[in-house]
Amino acid sequence: MRTDNPISLLARRIRTSSRITVLTGAGVSAASGVPTFRGNAGLWQSYSPEDLATPEAFARDPGLVWEWYNWRRELIAACRPNAAHFVLAAWSRRYPGFTLLTQNVDGLHEQAGTENTVRFHGSIWEVSCWNRCPGSPARWVDATVPLRTLPPGCPYCGGWLRPGVVWFGEPIDPGILDRAISATDCDLFITAGTSSAVHPAAGLVAASRRRGAFTAEINPETTPASATVDWSVRGPAEVVLREVEDLLRRDITLT
Ligand code: OAD
Repeated sequence: MRTDNPISLLARRIRTSSRITVLTGAGVSAASGVPTFRGNAGLWQSYSPEDLATPEAFARDPGLVWEWYNWRRELIAACRPNAAHFVLAAWSRRYPGFTLLTQNVDGLHEQAGTENTVRFHGSIWEVSCWNRCPGSPARWVDATVPLRTLPPGCPYCGGWLRPGVVWFGEPIDPGILDRAISATDCDLFITAGTSSAVHPAAGLVAASRRRGAFTAEINPETTPASATVDWSVRGPAEVVLREVEDLLRRDITLT
């Protein structure tokens, strides 16, 4: 049976692709209760990135920045992965050429059991020494919720700890960027739940298309990527991915 239903098309593409890359953003965690950044209910409606998500903001007022991160850590700690995370986790185990790139710092992909995850913007569950003191690792996990003192102190030098996330104006870790660029060399590139507003992550889908990948977007709204991808699927990731997975698991012949 041949059909151009977007769910069937995506399922067919997944079956016939040996290298699949999925890039996720905050929309994938929305159904888990993690707020997105943009849009009417987004965090950037009530908070300013310049005050909370830049190195300059941290240098000015680390206590304020940590209050915000502490609040988000408490909120996220109460959230669980949703169907979108679980479907992507299943694909990461089933398809050997699968890579998950995520801009999300919430750790829900990992909690769902996703393998081969590239965390583009770091992790809210990691910390590093603000001074990069010589005795400290580059970053390490500290999932204490709530943190007892704000800003928390570096156990190696007594200075400040900072959240292990990438802030505006900071470069992406070169090793992470290399892995992400390698993953654009694929047969199918899906971008899901991201506004495609923040570079360099937002440029990956177009880069992948230039390298010959079939590209698809899953989002209830249009984004700057919508006009350039091969296929736009309008809908929530937790519904669309679940439906695609249902088709894949039913073993329907989609040619
Ligand atoms: P945004 O908040 O910018 O965009 C979320 C996207 O998810 C929007 O396009 C929504 O339409 C879409 N969306 C909402 N609910 C959805 C659902 N159930 N299923 C699928 N899509 C849904 O989040 P990101 O694109 O991830 O960076 O933002 C990128 C970066 O900007 C973040 O990593 C963060 C932010 O500022 C930093 O903090 C450095």
